[in-house]
Formats: sequence, C-alpha cells, structure tokens
Amino acid sequence: MPGVLSGRRRASRQALPGASHSHMPTDESATPLRARSSGPLSGTVALPGDKSISHRALMLGTLAVGETAIDGLLEGEDILATVAAMRAFGATVVRTGQGAWRVTGLGVGGLLEPEAVVDYGNSGTGVRLAMGLAGGHGAVTTFTGDASLVGRPMGRVLDPLRRMGVRALARSDDRLPMTIRAPDALIPIEYRLTVPSAQVKSAVLLAALNAPGVTSVVEPVATRDHTERMLEAFGAQVEIDTAEDGARVVRVEGGANLRPQAITVPGDPSSAAFPIVAALIVAGSEVTVENMLLNPTRTGLLETLMEMGGDISIGNRRIVGGEEVADVVVKASKLAGVTVPASRAPSMIDEYPALAVAAAFAEGDTLMEGIGEMRVKESDRIAAVLAGLKANGIAAEDTPESLTVHGMAKVPGGGTVETHLDHRIAMSFLVLGLAAENAVTIDDARPIATSFPQFRELMTGLGARFDDATGD
Ligand code: S3P
Repeated sequence: MPGVLSGRRRASRQALPGASHSHMPTDESATPLRARSSGPLSGTVALPGDKSISHRALMLGTLAVGETAIDGLLEGEDILATVAAMRAFGATVVRTGQGAWRVTGLGVGGLLEPEAVVDYGNSGTGVRLAMGLAGGHGAVTTFTGDASLVGRPMGRVLDPLRRMGVRALARSDDRLPMTIRAPDALIPIEYRLTVPSAQVKSAVLLAALNAPGVTSVVEPVATRDHTERMLEAFGAQVEIDTAEDGARVVRVEGGANLRPQAITVPGDPSSAAFPIVAALIVAGSEVTVENMLLNPTRTGLLETLMEMGGDISIGNRRIVGGEEVADVVVKASKLAGVTVPASRAPSMIDEYPALAVAAAFAEGDTLMEGIGEMRVKESDRIAAVLAGLKANGIAAEDTPESLTVHGMAKVPGGGTVETHLDHRIAMSFLVLGLAAENAVTIDDARPIATSFPQFRELMTGLGARFDDATGD
C-alpha cells in the first residue's frame, strides 16, 4: 500500500509545526529545560572529543590488526552506538578510563557478520560510515535507527556502494531500516560526489580498503578530511590530488594492511560553538575554550563570527593527534550581520543553528547562503531554527537553500522551542535563552547527550542559568 507508506513518511519528516508556547511534546519522558538571562559567563571549558574523529578512530581501530589506544574519545550516545556496532562486527572495545578506550581490531577483510540488527540510534555519521564498512566485508548487515535517523536519506551512500557491487534492500527512498550484502569481490570505482558530504566520501573510502585496486573520490567542494588523514596515519596508501577543474581527488589503494595507532582526539569545534556564541552574546563574558580542533575544513564558524566583529583570539596553537588545536579566548562583543557565502557551508554545516543565535543579537541582517544540506540533518534544521527564532520574537525567513535572520538590540525570548530529536537545535536555543529578555524553554533536553553530555554542567560552571521545566 504505497499510499499508506508515503503518508507515514510525510508525517515523520515534513510535519514541522511552528514552535509555540502551548505545544509541549506528547512524549511523557521528554525532559524540558529552560535557560534564563545570565550574568557574565567566565571560566574555561574543557571540550569533549571531536565526534567525527571519535567515530573514525573506533572504525579504523577495528580495521587494524592489534590494539589501538584512543584518548579523549567523545563518550556521547552517537559514539557509544559506534562502540556497539564495532563490537557487533567482532572488535574488542574496552573502556580503560574517562575518554580512554582500547580497540582490538580484526584487520581489513576480517570483520564478522553482526548477529543482530545494528541500531545506530540518532547517528547519521555512524551509520553511513558503517555502511561503508559493511559493504566492504563479505557479510549481511541490517541497520536501523531512531525516529530521526529512519527519515534521513541513505541513497547518497548506497549509490556509490551499489556501483562497487554492494547489494542493499532498504525502505522506500533508500531509508532505514536496510540490509546490506557485500559482494565476494568489490569493484574499485571513481566516484564524483553529488552532495558535498564527508560521510559519503568516507563510506566509499572505507569500503575501498577491501577492494582490489585504486578507488577515487572526487569532491568538487572539499569536505572535512579526517578519514583520509587518519587512514594515512594507520598506514593506508592515500593520495590527494587536484583535478583540472579544481576538484579535490582522494585515492585509496585497496587491500590495505592497517597498523594500530595511539590516537588523541582533539576537542570538538562543533560543540565549542555553544560556549563561544554564549560568551559573545552574554554581556561582560570572557570564556576560554581549550584544545579546540582547528582543522581548516572545520573553522567556518570562527571565521564568520570574527567577520561579525566577535572578539576572539586564538593562542597556544599546537599539534594533537596529527591535527592542529588551540585555546580560544572569547569576549562579549557587539556583532554585525554578514552574508555567509555558500562556499563556506561545508566547513560549518553543523554550526548554522548556533550562528543563527549569534545573528539574532547582531546589528542588521545575517544571510546564510547555500545551506540546503541543513534540511536533511537530525531535523530539517532550517525549519527548526526558523520556528525557534519566531517563537522567541526574532524575525527570520527562509528559502529552500538559505536563511536570513534579522538581528535586534533586545531579543524578547519567552518561547518554547521544539527540538525534533536534534541536539544542536536544543543547545542553540538554550544559548539564546542566556541572553534573551525572557527565559527560553526547549521541549526536550535528552538529545544533547548524543554529542555533548556535559553541556549543562560545563555551561553552568561558566555561570549559565538553567532550570528543569518538567511539569510546567
Ligand atoms: C560529518 C559530516 C557532516 C556533518 C556530520 C559529521 C562527518 O555530514 O554534518 O555531523 O563526520 O563526516 P555530511 O557529510 O553529510 O555533510
């Protein structure tokens, strides 16, 4: 009954009613949280480990023969889903201390067939990268996820994997749940990305490790490069080139023999976005964010906030785990609206909800161009941000590919925001509440645990005021 199915699909992805004061979630276990106007924020934030690098460290550890030691691993729900998945593929993964983990891998070609469905919860990165692993190993794997993840597009990964000979049976429109069957021998391909997605690039590169010959991924716009950096560190043959049309080409040689490594995961710039924006908008604040990853494919938000007039200084630059990190000092600042070009989107794709909050406090308009990919994240983030801004008295409008926020001297606040199982929507609007005239409530704080479980504690330590809003 296709009509019934498509009706259900619409219900899960497109019904995004505007946030309102009266609309609280029907889920009784939701935990609403409120943020109030706070005094100056001050202190130092020790960031959680980078989510992208944490997933990759566990996966490459699984593909190496022997013991990989990881320090500073993010212990959020998304990463714990990858821990469970790697165990299902046969790796031994143990926690030896806070953020300290050991992975005993099985080698490229050595993964076992998971005995049960691999449930990836909320994690798009986790499941898409694991689809590459599953596609590269001669077995059958079934994946599923939560109400957000089963609505997200997976065809972007299945398309190149199918060209490599992988068979997949998925729900309509290539959604989860899905079952992947790896071929006896993969076909190495040259694949040009049709969406600027590091997840798609990485899935192809991970599958390619077990293909005979060289596989190339061509990316017209460069995306985060953690997979290729880490593959090189583990001893894979990786070559980076520029094509005649300026596209970036990543080639990997199959039949790789990966050697276990000791990895230190740098602090996550996507999580840093929240204390950084909070420090800029709460009058009198001065906050230091330590150990932040400065990989140039991830620094779009810093660049944009500096253009807006943010008082941000970067010091103590050093190399951690093969990546540049630094300590970032942020002082409350008078911000001005800017136009953020589409070309910057891949380097800050997860940071636009936080930018929209900074933009609400800026003088003039902020236009964010070329951000259509935001519509297929943990929620339709353009719609969720727009609804959240409007619920708090801030004027904004969208097009399919852009968002404009009209900044104001005093942000009213006072609204309740629907988070749609999306951690970044939840944290962004709590930050808004710290500097708005009236308290801001989010309908459910639980999704924050996917990427930044210590968010509330760290922000409270800086002086942020939050109250539980359960039972209101
Ligand atoms: C990620 C890539 C980005 C980003 C996600 C993490 C990664 O997604 O939004 O949070 O670790 O590769 P896309 O590759 O789909 O843009």
